[in-house]
Amino acid sequence: MAQLRIPGPTPCPPEVLKAMARPMINHRGAEFHQLINDVTEKMKQVFQTKNDLYLLTGSGTGGLEAAIVNVLSPKDKVLSVSIGVFGDRWANIAKTFGAEVVSLKSEWGTAADPDAIKKAIKDNPDVKAVLVTHNETSTGVTNNLGAISKVVKDAGKLLVVDAISSMSSIDVPVDKWGLDVVVTGSQKGWMVPPGMAMVSISERGWKAHAQAKIPRFYWDFTRAKNYFEKGQTPWTPAISILFALDASLNMMFKEGLANIFARHAKLGDMTRSGVKALGLAIFPADEKYASNTVTAVKGSDKVDPPKLQKVLREEYKVVVSGGQGDLTGKIFRIGHLGWVTEADIKETLDAIGKALPKASA
Ligand SMILES: Cc1ncc(COP(=O)(O)O)c(C=O)c1O
Repeated sequence: MAQLRIPGPTPCPPEVLKAMARPMINHRGAEFHQLINDVTEKMKQVFQTKNDLYLLTGSGTGGLEAAIVNVLSPKDKVLSVSIGVFGDRWANIAKTFGAEVVSLKSEWGTAADPDAIKKAIKDNPDVKAVLVTHNETSTGVTNNLGAISKVVKDAGKLLVVDAISSMSSIDVPVDKWGLDVVVTGSQKGWMVPPGMAMVSISERGWKAHAQAKIPRFYWDFTRAKNYFEKGQTPWTPAISILFALDASLNMMFKEGLANIFARHAKLGDMTRSGVKALGLAIFPADEKYASNTVTAVKGSDKVDPPKLQKVLREEYKVVVSGGQGDLTGKIFRIGHLGWVTEADIKETLDAIGKALPKASA
């Protein structure tokens, strides 16, 4: 079997695939009512929140769009904290819906500086919300969200977080950090296929929602809330993904959240040490911020990333990702989130070691 070592979609355990083979059920019936309640309750435990949480059929980007249209009005000023491709995409969504975006960008490979965020809010006291990517999948950098949340909360602003490639793999205590709207996506650490975005919203988020004027229909949280109260979703949901999530969440609780976070930390460490031992360099400027779900590795004389990807795929059945945006052709990325073991990482590193002589620049 191939080693799918990309940062999503991630491999699915057999229990999950089996759950997805279940026949369809009536999404307006009693069985679905039970399913949506169960999955939502379990999902909240992973988010570590008592806030409302909705399972939306769509990809992660749909969840990001839902966050924007549900809490903002055209011309609202927002601070976009971007450290890569996904941060830039989010700012783009906000702009598309008419928000006035103040951009705070950090050089790719670095993390956002909480003091710079503090200053940007001070310089723009009328910003309504701050958009932050917790784990920037394109550069392999994890922001210090605990420190960022403190600064944003001290300033009394709404904090809207893309936790798509961190939630379920890295600790994101939503209530402890006061995160107002938090988005994740099914195909990442959740060990299930693409198809759903999961979004939590705080009391404060609901207050913003009540005043938000961006037109919305499919993503409308009021509709999601009204239907959830009846044990339904407003539109036909990706029922098979819900079956899958029900099974994967059970697996996650069996392992234990703390153990899952520790496993990802260990695998991140192992991947970084392994690539460095092969004479390669990781892309993040400061290893302290290197992600425990995806490792970005720099191209050099020793390795041409697209060549390496080809040799790995064709000769070793190991699939890694390339770079995105300005990093296209310049880095490669190894995903280590979700259903992944030390043996998977060892096999991946061994294959990279063997492929390197055929993949030099
Ligand atoms: C941090 C981050 N944000 C947003 C997205 C976009 O999610 P999707 O491709 O599911 O729309 C991704 C997916 O790779 C991501 O890793």
